[in-house]
Amino acid sequence: MSENIHPIFDRLVTREEQERLLNQKGKVLWFTGLSGSGKSTIAEALERQLYNNGYFVKVLDGDNIRSGINKNLGFSLEDRKENIRRIAEVAKLFLDSGAIVLCSFVSPTIEIRNLARKIIGTEDFKEVYVDTPLEICESRDVKGLYKKARAGEIKGFTGIDSPFEAPKAPALRLLTENKNVAECVLEATKLI
Ligand code: ADX
Repeated sequence: MSENIHPIFDRLVTREEQERLLNQKGKVLWFTGLSGSGKSTIAEALERQLYNNGYFVKVLDGDNIRSGINKNLGFSLEDRKENIRRIAEVAKLFLDSGAIVLCSFVSPTIEIRNLARKIIGTEDFKEVYVDTPLEICESRDVKGLYKKARAGEIKGFTGIDSPFEAPKAPALRLLTENKNVAECVLEATKLI
């Protein structure tokens, strides 16, 4: 199959050209953390702030991606890996267009995040650990999913009966407990 595929990336407008046009450097901020940790809230607020400052930004988010391109995937570790593989490939396409890409996914294991890092490229992959204790995520339970997971209505829920491996050396660790969204956004801005 692959012998019949002939990529033409070398003929397309380059990333450097796109970046010049946009007057920015493309990169990927990869937000990882438990469901309800605040990843998407921070990514959305950061997107708005960067947009207001004239940046071209794209947010890729678990609940959106899983209702579209990845709607055939579930939450087994294998499906999560395929979820992240596709997302990383999409993020890379945006990156090649010079965009600042904010990816907000549980991406629960080191292996899964390393896969994303490899696809995107270490240089451009900035891991942001949204470090919110399980007790807090669970007490917020914005989507009511922790309650269902505890009741056994959802199997394999991250943090309950499916693992979350914290990043060992993230580019940024956001201890959200004592910070508001604006403070988190300010810290994340330093990675741009
Ligand atoms: S990932 O593990 O594959 O990276 P992703 O970020 O796309 O997950 O989706 C996580 C979102 O799906 C959660 O915020 C939650 O709303 C929902 N969800 C539904 N089932 C599960 C589950 N078993 N584990 C974690 N999140 C789940």
